[in-house]
Amino acid sequence: MKVAFFSAKPYEREFFKSTDPNGIHAFTYFEARLNRETASLAHGHVAVCAFVNDRLDEPVLEQLADEGVRYIVLRSAGFNHVDLDAAHRLKIKVARVPAYSPYAVAEHAVALMMDLNRKIHRAYARVREGNFALEGLMGVDMHGLTAGIIGTGRIGLCTARILKGFGMNLLGYDLYEPPEAKQLGIEYATLEHLLTASDIITLHCPLTPDTHHLIDANAISLMKPGAMLINTSRGEVVDTKAVIEGLKSGKIGNLGLDVYEEEEYLFFQDLSDKVIQDDVFSRLLTFPNVIVTGHQAFFTRNAMEAIARVTFGNLDELEATGKCANLVSPESHWVMPEVLRDDNF
Ligand code: NAI
Repeated sequence: MKVAFFSAKPYEREFFKSTDPNGIHAFTYFEARLNRETASLAHGHVAVCAFVNDRLDEPVLEQLADEGVRYIVLRSAGFNHVDLDAAHRLKIKVARVPAYSPYAVAEHAVALMMDLNRKIHRAYARVREGNFALEGLMGVDMHGLTAGIIGTGRIGLCTARILKGFGMNLLGYDLYEPPEAKQLGIEYATLEHLLTASDIITLHCPLTPDTHHLIDANAISLMKPGAMLINTSRGEVVDTKAVIEGLKSGKIGNLGLDVYEEEEYLFFQDLSDKVIQDDVFSRLLTFPNVIVTGHQAFFTRNAMEAIARVTFGNLDELEATGKCANLVSPESHWVMPEVLRDDNF
């Protein structure tokens, strides 16, 4: 199948090439993000392979349909960036990689927690300058703290397993309670109780209409003073401006973000020679108790291999049968506030 691969990075090409050494599918790699300006590049391709910050709103999908695209294969688990109603209307099938390495994301979330708690980012900079003073570097034992896990699916449960190993108390908030949660000792609570009782709150739910700005000013007001917030799910689950107010007041003691509401204009590119125009993001970077990583929680060798393998499986299935076990449909929950946004960078 001819596949137009958008937002291509050299490290991804390596995995995709080694997964399909005989070139069963013909990939054209485009470094450009998929959007209204670049959609015409898909001309002559049956499938588009897209990542999290590619834009798959109605106008883009209409252009892709006009170019003859019939399949979208996402290199991600999340599909909140696809207008599934429009895809359905245009008879474009959308497949994803539902799980590639929950360990990768869970371990990154815990890395953020541990770094923030023990202030490793500050210690690293200090020691390199010959400053071995300990003032300002004190943490607390993770053992005995309470973690509130919002979304106890694949990644949330992995996170729970790691934190249980630390001897932490686990609170969970989800629409469903998976059987394993009981064995792990996760106590399910209302969102309000979880926010009130947790020392560390970690987000592992998808972005849906219900979770958009789940962490807003009201949620923050319920948190323990000095609570730590970790978001490795999707940027829009958190109201960033409200979080900045929470940091300024001290209500939020530490913040670890791997995702950001406006990340499509920033992440996955080297902007080190440019002036960042996003003042909200820039403000985040001024706090000593904030760590931001650029949507890298998924980024392990194991996850990259799995993404390539499952994507090829999706293409094989779609080519052979027109169907695929990993299809997402309009019945799947989604939200795409980005369609309301200006596309100018
Ligand atoms: P999953 O589908 O296994 O688990 C999600 C859980 O969230 C489910 O148990 C679901 O019931 C729960 N949930 C859904 N709506 C909810 C609501 N309104 N309130 C509370 N819980 C709700 O998904 P998985 O694999 O654990 O991934 C979770 C999210 O992590 C993905 O949707 C994606 O946004 C994000 N992710 C981030 C990555 C990164 O690199 N930062 C990489 C992969 C995923």
